[in-house]
Amino acid sequence: MSKYVIAIDQGTTSSRAIIFDHSGNIVSSGQKEHEQIFPKAGWVEHDPMEIWNNTREVIGNALSKVNLTRHDIAAVGITNQRETTVVWDKNTGEPVYNAIVWQDTRTQPIVDELAADGGVERFKSKVGLPLATYFSGTKVKWILDNVEGARAKAEAGDLLFGNTDSWITWHLTGGTEGGVHITDVTNASRTMFMDLETLSWDDEILKAFGVPRSMLPEIKSSSEVYGKVHGAQLLRETPVAGILGDQQAATFGQAAFEKGGAKNTYGTGNFLIVNTGEEIVRSENGLLTTVCYKLGDAKPVYALEGSIAVTGSLIQWLRDNLGFIKTAPEVEQLAKSVEDNGGVYVVPAFSGLFAPYWRGEARGAIVGLTRFVNKGHIARAALEATAFQTREVLDAANADAGVDMEDLRVDGGMVANDALMQFQADILGIPVVRPKVTETTALGAAYAAGLAVGFWSDTDELAANWSEDKRWLPSMDAAERDRQMRLWKKAVTRTFDWVD
Ligand code: G3P
Repeated sequence: MSKYVIAIDQGTTSSRAIIFDHSGNIVSSGQKEHEQIFPKAGWVEHDPMEIWNNTREVIGNALSKVNLTRHDIAAVGITNQRETTVVWDKNTGEPVYNAIVWQDTRTQPIVDELAADGGVERFKSKVGLPLATYFSGTKVKWILDNVEGARAKAEAGDLLFGNTDSWITWHLTGGTEGGVHITDVTNASRTMFMDLETLSWDDEILKAFGVPRSMLPEIKSSSEVYGKVHGAQLLRETPVAGILGDQQAATFGQAAFEKGGAKNTYGTGNFLIVNTGEEIVRSENGLLTTVCYKLGDAKPVYALEGSIAVTGSLIQWLRDNLGFIKTAPEVEQLAKSVEDNGGVYVVPAFSGLFAPYWRGEARGAIVGLTRFVNKGHIARAALEATAFQTREVLDAANADAGVDMEDLRVDGGMVANDALMQFQADILGIPVVRPKVTETTALGAAYAAGLAVGFWSDTDELAANWSEDKRWLPSMDAAERDRQMRLWKKAVTRTFDWVD
């Protein structure tokens, strides 16, 4: 009996392979960053071939570090940056264009054109999402409209579309030699094309976007055997058995299986997800309605999501574009070199503003500058921006739910930053709780795959693996918290209506 499950986490900045044991502990991992391509202001692309090659490499690294082979691995789970759009030729396996990343804002004119008839909420009752550059739909349309010959090929049935989960799965299961072209319900719920109730592609929306149905992957559950790793690959014959978009995977890895269970992941952006059980809750407060997971034939579980485009990537920007720090973790020291933010607020509206505002025309701002302000204050304000944005989406989730959350489970890279987590608890006014395994995204994908092949028996067994590592308690007084939030919200308004 194989003792491990491997998860592939194809994220925004890197691809990783992580091997877990039955207790949900990490046994080995491999990781490789890929290039972030910024051809113009607002454009963000990845090279899909680089992503696939890196994925193969990190699988090899994770296995070889601990001398494991395919015989030790019960199943492969996949989790991925959602919305990022790949269109490729099914006959050659070649992408027709770079992947257009979720942060990319080039499709704002397409959003405006579609919204001219019915507003940005035109399809929201069906798909749970407002029209925005964030989702895959306008990105596919852009490729068909702008890449020479793409539309004709798509209409002839030669092109395939997918988020990176579909791209990786197609290659793993054989590519041009019979690879399966599928996605799971969670990824499908980020395209703008899937009806949340029927869990199938909606022809009326596809028609409005001008996207042929033949390009779309088949929608599957998040946990079932989709196929086996093909041919000469390292994991050959291993079942590919779980797919979850990365934020849904983190929710699964945090064992938030009950209605009301929630988590907040601190990655390139921040994503708060609240499990709403079998109920499709329509947000009145700027959150998205999305699929949380679907296990095999069981009923789907839905969620509300507060998506924040820029949190960790603001720290990368301080590092790469401003040269304030050499490595991202150094930001904590720089922020601690000053007593407070010195009156500075950084609103990182690099991709417009996502939840709860959904303003594509917003652009970032640093406000409150005086001659007193130094790098430390800006670094501190950049970190604080993560906490303020999280407070805004948590307020929206509480308003939608009609009850206040009692604490917040957190994960992702930035939760190693103690000062940020304390400030987060202070600004929320509730405890912030970190689990022992913070690689919850990969863990969630491993769980989905492991459940499908009987490696784990049920979600109770998974919930028993969860344990608390650290808890930060709020210590800021309420008046100061309110003052900070008031200034933050004022700063946010300064970013509105920036694009001509
Ligand atoms: O919706 C975008 C999200 O899935 C990206 O997550 O962790 O790759 O920044 P991450």
